[in-house]
Parts: sequence; C-alpha cells; structure tokens
Amino acid sequence: MTVRDRVDAAFAAQPRTRFLPEGARYAADVDAPLQIGYGQTNSQPRTVHDMLMLLDVRRGMRVLDVGAGSGWTTALLAELTGPEGSVLGTEIVPELVEFGAGNVAGAGVPWARLVSAVPRALGAPDEAPFDRILVSAMAHGLPRELVEQLSPGGVMVVPVDGTMLRVVRGVPPVDAVAEAEVTEHGEYRFVPLLGG
Ligand SMILES: C[S@@+](CC[C@H](N)C(=O)[O-])C[C@H]1O[C@@H](n2cnc3c(N)ncnc32)[C@H](O)[C@@H]1O
Repeated sequence: MTVRDRVDAAFAAQPRTRFLPEGARYAADVDAPLQIGYGQTNSQPRTVHDMLMLLDVRRGMRVLDVGAGSGWTTALLAELTGPEGSVLGTEIVPELVEFGAGNVAGAGVPWARLVSAVPRALGAPDEAPFDRILVSAMAHGLPRELVEQLSPGGVMVVPVDGTMLRVVRGVPPVDAVAEAEVTEHGEYRFVPLLGG
C-alpha cells in the first residue's frame, strides 16, 4: 500500500462530519476550513491530506497531534498507527478539549486520546519521544521544543511563518536538534500556534 492509499483509507474510515459541530455538518464536503467555535477551525481536508502524506505515519508508531481541535486529525492519525501504536492529541482551548476528546472517544480508536495542552510548554515533553509530530497551527520560527520531542529519525510536519515544513531529526551521531533536516512544501494559512 502506498502512503496515499493509507491516507485515503484513513479518510474513508473517519468521515469529517462526525467531528463538526451540528451547525457546520452541512458543509462537511466543502474543501475549506470550518468553524468549530472559540475562533478555531477544523482544518481544510486537502491540507490535512497533504500533511498526512508528508508525515508518512506507519503502523505501530507513537504520534503527537499538536492543536487537535475537533479531534479529526487525532482519529485520522490513529487509523494510520493502528492499535499497535498510539496517538496523543493536545489542545489549548478548554472547551475544545471537551468537544474533541468526546469526538475521539466515539471514533472507535481507543489507542488515541485528546488532552489539555500542558501550561507553558509546547507538545507533551513528559511523554516524549514521538516517532511523528503533526502541528495544525502556525508557528513563528521552528519550534525547537517540539524537535526535541522527536525520536532520532522522527518526522514533524509543521506550518512555520506561512510555509509547510517537514523536519527530520537526525540519528546518532548526527542527532543535534540544530542539525535536523528541514524541507519546504508550499504555502499554507493556519490559526496561530499559541506559545509557539
Ligand atoms: C486548525 S485548528 C484545529 C485543527 C484540528 N487538527 C482539526 O482538524 O480540528 C488548530 C488548533 O490548535 C490549537 N492550538 C493553538 N496553539 C496550541 C498549543 N500551543 N497547543 C495545543 N493546541 C494549540 C487551537 O486552539 C486550535 O484548536
């Protein structure tokens, strides 16, 4: 199965509708970000698809989903890891933690959970390292704190100052965060990563 096949299968298994507030469900098939309240959005499907292709999640991986919002990306990632892996979603808006966690709990993927972001920290430093990190909010500058939470050879996909970046942490002896390999993958718009 190619990466595209696996991502397509995840989309088919976790329809976006289930992760939208009732009032937004009529627009689930529209390829645009949709409001989920509190000034935040459920991301545009084409953008999520692009990011998951870049992230290349394999079965059994440990994945961190920063900016989990509605929980949709957390559930999609869980389809990609399968039950041999795990997904931790973090969200900073308390009302969305409740909304997103409820959606993930009903998604049939008990190896995924959505929790409140750790105050004054990015990601989940206490639960690192992760094989993959997805960031669904725009950072200003590469968040080194998150690169440090990658395992050696781990991959992060993150929008930074308008550009989608794919970051690969080096493997020893080239494991310094400063020497992570960073490639650029087009221009995107996102809500801001708070504290990032
Ligand atoms: C584009 S939205 C939601 C994307 C989500 N993956 C979805 O499809 O519903 C990005 C989310 O990131 C959250 N966010 C912003 N900064 C954050 C941070 N430092 N830690 C965790 N979540 C954050 C926002 O509150 C928002 O819900």
